[in-house]
Amino acid sequence: MTRLIYFTILSEFALLFGAPLVSTRPLHNARVIRDAAQVQDESYSFVIVGGGTAGLTLADRLKEAFPSESVLVVEFGALDDSQEILMPSDGVADQARLFDITSVPNAELNGRDATVSAGKVVGGSSAVDGQFFDRASREDIDSWAALGSPEWNNLEIKWGWDDLLQYYKRSTLFHSPPLEVTAQFGYAWDNEAAYGVNQTTQIDATFPPFQWPIQSRLYNAWAEYGLERRVECAAGGKYGICWAPSSQDPDMQTRSYARTAHWDEVPSSQRYDLLPNHKVTSLSFPNGLLSPPSMVVQRVDSGSSDADIVVTAEFEVILSAGAVHTPQILQRSGIGPRELLESAGIEVAVELPGVGQNFQDHPSVPGYDTNSLLVEQTFYPDPSMISTNETFVQQALDNYFNNQTVGPYTMGSGNTAVYVPLKTITEDYEALANVVLQQAQGASEFLASSADATYAAGYSAQLSVIADMFKSDTAPTLEGPFSDSPNSLGVLLKPLSRGTVMLDPANLDAEPLVDYRTFSNPVDVGIMSYFIPYLRGYYETSIMQAMGPTEMNPGAEVTDQSAMIDYLRQTAMASYADPCCTAAMMPVEKGGVVGPDLKVHGTEALRVVDASVFPLIPGAHLSATVYAVAEKAAEIIVGRWQGEVKRRQLRR
Ligand SMILES: Cc1cc2nc3c(=O)[nH]c(=O)nc-3n(C[C@H](O)[C@H](O)[C@H](O)COP(=O)(O)OP(=O)(O)OC[C@H]3O[C@@H](n4cnc5c(N)ncnc54)[C@H](O)[C@@H]3O)c2cc1C
Ligand SMILES: *[C@@H]1O[C@H](CO)[C@@H](O)[C@H](O)[C@H]1NC(C)=O
Ligand SMILES: *[C@@H]1O[C@H](CO)[C@@H](O)[C@H](O)[C@H]1NC(C)=O
Ligand SMILES: *[C@@H]1O[C@H](CO)[C@@H](O)[C@H](O)[C@H]1NC(C)=O
Repeated sequence: MTRLIYFTILSEFALLFGAPLVSTRPLHNARVIRDAAQVQDESYSFVIVGGGTAGLTLADRLKEAFPSESVLVVEFGALDDSQEILMPSDGVADQARLFDITSVPNAELNGRDATVSAGKVVGGSSAVDGQFFDRASREDIDSWAALGSPEWNNLEIKWGWDDLLQYYKRSTLFHSPPLEVTAQFGYAWDNEAAYGVNQTTQIDATFPPFQWPIQSRLYNAWAEYGLERRVECAAGGKYGICWAPSSQDPDMQTRSYARTAHWDEVPSSQRYDLLPNHKVTSLSFPNGLLSPPSMVVQRVDSGSSDADIVVTAEFEVILSAGAVHTPQILQRSGIGPRELLESAGIEVAVELPGVGQNFQDHPSVPGYDTNSLLVEQTFYPDPSMISTNETFVQQALDNYFNNQTVGPYTMGSGNTAVYVPLKTITEDYEALANVVLQQAQGASEFLASSADATYAAGYSAQLSVIADMFKSDTAPTLEGPFSDSPNSLGVLLKPLSRGTVMLDPANLDAEPLVDYRTFSNPVDVGIMSYFIPYLRGYYETSIMQAMGPTEMNPGAEVTDQSAMIDYLRQTAMASYADPCCTAAMMPVEKGGVVGPDLKVHGTEALRVVDASVFPLIPGAHLSATVYAVAEKAAEIIVGRWQGEVKRRQLRR
């Protein structure tokens, strides 16, 4: 959905007619620290770097478990009360709430660069995302466990799907939409299998009271194409045509995100402090690697001349700065690849070659363009009216603000997508899987030159796990999201190419250098070339044919594989806003950065809890999995410190 008109109208509209989008729940008394000098001489039990999706979830859970202990969250972005954040969004966020980072040119994408998507506001990326709230597949999460095997086989902490499902459930409260809404759109879910846990602070999930009329036509066309209509895809089996709820409040139809669930709504508590507008630049270990690090904190809002301050934790420090900034902070703190640190003049604290390697995101390819005039004549309301018809937009806003929150503005980026295993896409799936298995014997030539032998071993292990998924009947390789347009997008869910995120040795304060290295493993572009004929088949269904589609991209004349690959190099997008995996949970011998307890290898009181720790990108948008990982991390950390907290209470 284009929001151009909406953004300009919204501000006047809210003033003239709109009821403000305030939560009816009581606000808590946690403290916002405006001036860093206030924390200079204080110490906190836990310090969390990054008040984003994972960081706020973790902070809330630690306070809940340990009311007598203190938690400080240091967040780069602002505590931003704009209504725009709460209104459902298609994931096109205001630049003010995003970091401004462009990747280095991508050789295999004809030298094109890409925008790096990461939220810069309290709530992090969950404050700007498209609220598409799907989960990983069973195979995705079981593969994380496989990468820790055999090294971690006998440890207590396990990371398979059957384990993580309980944390997904704990993170989220699903609200059934009203019966008539369910019937109107055909929404389906299985509360028992996927949700069913109800506790004080959780992310709300629901289906909105609106879908564009074209959506059901697209749904039926996928069914005609042979994909299974699934009731629930969030309970492990993620294939076929899936409904995904939005991360959204069911009463207000507003965004439910890390801030609303884990900051605004937490019960009043002592010393849960948030320091927004401050950047953590680096950590140091004045008492050695077994003790919590100290950190340097710098004010980021303009016009300030505050000196850097140093903050210390008593128990531990947790990095939750997201997959783009967590590796940068580690590297700047002397934890990373030796050569990089030395070139930047940084003293090595822990040599960990994997920090900043293993960068992954989902590449995608636009396919087809239909006859838009015909679409406009067939469907009412037609989504293009949002960007062309001011009367319609006024009406839609009125429905959102003044008419029981109904209409198009209740919808985020959509609630449906297909998830297709490679087997369904091409008969060549076995040959492709075998190529990858062959690569798993040693394929370091596809890695960045900065990759070392340990990470190359970890990469080989990843390739053999992915080869298995390519042969599976249920693990998806393609996502095809659909909601408001007959045009298609093929998203590659299990890429084999690996990028890097490295600090800039020439300017340590600058944003890190992000290199997607999309298609650096040629199998990726090969697999995506099979997406094109597969998507063409979808337009051959009678339902799609009735819309009179004309292929504009890549164009019917593009039939041989090399021409498709050329098209992909010209048009594929490197990112689907799912950056991850840069501080991977893998053994040291495999170039990993954190252990199964999420502790940084070689340290005792420093953990990473955010999308950086995923060893392999799941076949999903990432927010639900980040929340689940944060829930599990909270349990691990509470388990580690509960004895100590008891002893402290007795002493007090
Ligand atoms: C535009 C966009 C659309 C998306 N759409 C979807 C979607 O529809 N569905 C979905 O499931 N996922 C979506 N995602 C992905 C998902 O939102 C993220 O993967 C997930 O929220 C990441 O969580 P995180 O905790 O790892 O990082 P974040 O939530 O990004 O949190 C990191 C936090 O750390 C802060 N920070 C960074 N550096 C520092 C520093 N040096 N000092 C202090 N603080 C720092 C940042 O400001 C940020 O608040 C989208 C992402 C974006 C950006
Ligand atoms: C969750 O629990 C609360 C309090 O017991 C209850 O009022 C509410 O209806 C429950 N919500 C759901 C969706 O089960
Ligand atoms: C614009 O929207 C209004 C209100 O929905 C509708 O009545 C009108 O027909 C639309 N105009 C066009 C050109 O689509
Ligand atoms: C208000 O919402 C109802 C229910 O969705 C709808 O039928 C009605 O037309 C809306 N009213 C206006 C004025 O748009």
